[in-house]
Amino acid sequence: MNTQEHEIHVYVDEADLFEFSKSEVREGLLRSPKELAPYLLYDEKGSELFEEITELPEYYQTRTEKKILGEIAPIIEERYEFRELLELGSGSSYKTRVLLDEMHQSGQLELYLPFDVSESMVRQTAEELSREYPEMGIYAIVGDFNRHLGKIPSGNHRLLVFLGGTIGNFKPQTAETFLRNVARTMDPSDRLLLGTDLVKDTAVIEAAYNDSRGVTAAFNRNSLKVVNDRLGANFKPDAYEHRAIFDTEKAQIEMHLIATSRQDVRIEAIDLDVRVEEGEYVLSEISRKFTRSTVESLLASAGLEMTDWFTDPEEKFALSLGAVRG
Ligand code: SAH
Ligand code: AVI
Repeated sequence: MNTQEHEIHVYVDEADLFEFSKSEVREGLLRSPKELAPYLLYDEKGSELFEEITELPEYYQTRTEKKILGEIAPIIEERYEFRELLELGSGSSYKTRVLLDEMHQSGQLELYLPFDVSESMVRQTAEELSREYPEMGIYAIVGDFNRHLGKIPSGNHRLLVFLGGTIGNFKPQTAETFLRNVARTMDPSDRLLLGTDLVKDTAVIEAAYNDSRGVTAAFNRNSLKVVNDRLGANFKPDAYEHRAIFDTEKAQIEMHLIATSRQDVRIEAIDLDVRVEEGEYVLSEISRKFTRSTVESLLASAGLEMTDWFTDPEEKFALSLGAVRG
């Protein structure tokens, strides 16, 4: 059994992160209310903390999506016999193994293309997967969703997956633009499998983002450390409280860092001084929750047609298949 080569293409390196973070952080901190770009959550430590979140009792998303994937993987494989699997925001590719196992077993799978901004995650996962699936080629991309989709090599008979509900971390307009760009890379023989967390009881959603062990709080505060490390800032992460609140009108949970006392912060690399008042909220992430109809509209706005909708019996989470409109 020959082990296939795995290639790693890096478009986001330290220098790029430095330059890009400068403009994003400046723009976000000068906004009112202040914001931090969500990709700041995913340095090496942040990626590890996210993996811990996925195992929390309150964080129902990962295990629910994995269960649905287990049920639908054979159906999808039998119907389409995909040769390639492209995964956006692949992270540890933990749940992806359910799909890879099915596709690998049928002997059709030739290539896995993970795409993620976290270089450490991409490298570690590519190493692991090349050992686990020695006959499968790996073409890994360290890139930013919003800037590097054009670096994905073209293909066909490809299943594109975007799991975890990560589409919900984009603001509505960004989500549409992103999906439109994804749709542009798709051949008529390709399908997009999109994971979305569903609207449900506020208490259940808020518990998932305010977990009792404080892992989400550590994940949130870590984004301040990322700004310190990357841009020579002097945020004191411990001077901020973590709080996630569900906005029922916008159907989104909003994750905040709230200053427990007045903070005067210097961000050396952009020569910026900002004051965060006691009790001021800094928005670090949104996570939108969907219904079948809002997913359908989102896909349609990107030129995609929903062909299937799969959910768990309690309708906590959904996976939908989309195809480019003919
Ligand atoms: N798909 C996995 C991981 C979800 S966490 C799951 O379902 O569990 C979100 C992933 O998106 C992280 O791995 C993070 O590094 C990646 N990510 C966040 N912002 C990104 C960006 N702008 N470009 C590319 N990847 C990004
Ligand atoms: C990656 N994304 C789908 C997660 C979510 O649920 O929105 C990120 C996360 N933030 C806090 N907990 C998990």
